[in-house]
Amino acid sequence: MFDLDQLTADCRAALAGERSVHNVREVVARAVSDPAALISALGDPERGGVQTLHRSSDLTIINVLWRPEMILMPHNHEMWAVIGVYSGREDNILWRRLPDDADRIEAAGAKSLSEGDVLAFGPDVIHSVINPIPRVTGAIHIYGGDFFGVARSEWDPESLRERPYDMDKVLRMFAGQG
Ligand SMILES: [Fe+2]
Repeated sequence: MFDLDQLTADCRAALAGERSVHNVREVVARAVSDPAALISALGDPERGGVQTLHRSSDLTIINVLWRPEMILMPHNHEMWAVIGVYSGREDNILWRRLPDDADRIEAAGAKSLSEGDVLAFGPDVIHSVINPIPRVTGAIHIYGGDFFGVARSEWDPESLRERPYDMDKVLRMFAGQG
């Protein structure tokens, strides 16, 4: 049985202790270890979108619904993040800034996530995300700050040059409108 208030309380308790990101990761791992409970609480992932489950200055919990075969350009978060997939797949490409051209990035690695997998990112991580399957992927994303209230960067997918992150554009992409 999934309980959003309990998840939020567990994340808050994890934040209060030492090794907070590690502990939040454990909380998310527990949640996505029972995908059926999450789906019965949040609904079947049928349409793309970003649902805010909790938002405060030091903690954001969102239900991310990746449209079939959706690709999101490289971006950073400026805060730690924990991602747990409860339905479908997420492929993350990890990027790093070029030492001699700090506005540009190069690919540095990849992490594939399936149902039940969890990934933690430090605040400097740059990633892009692919939903590689022809149905919606559902994931719980937890951030150590106000995800919607912080200026961050995205990188143009063609030039790989840094520019300000456009949240409205990203939300339109999730809705299939951009
Ligand atoms: Fe992200």
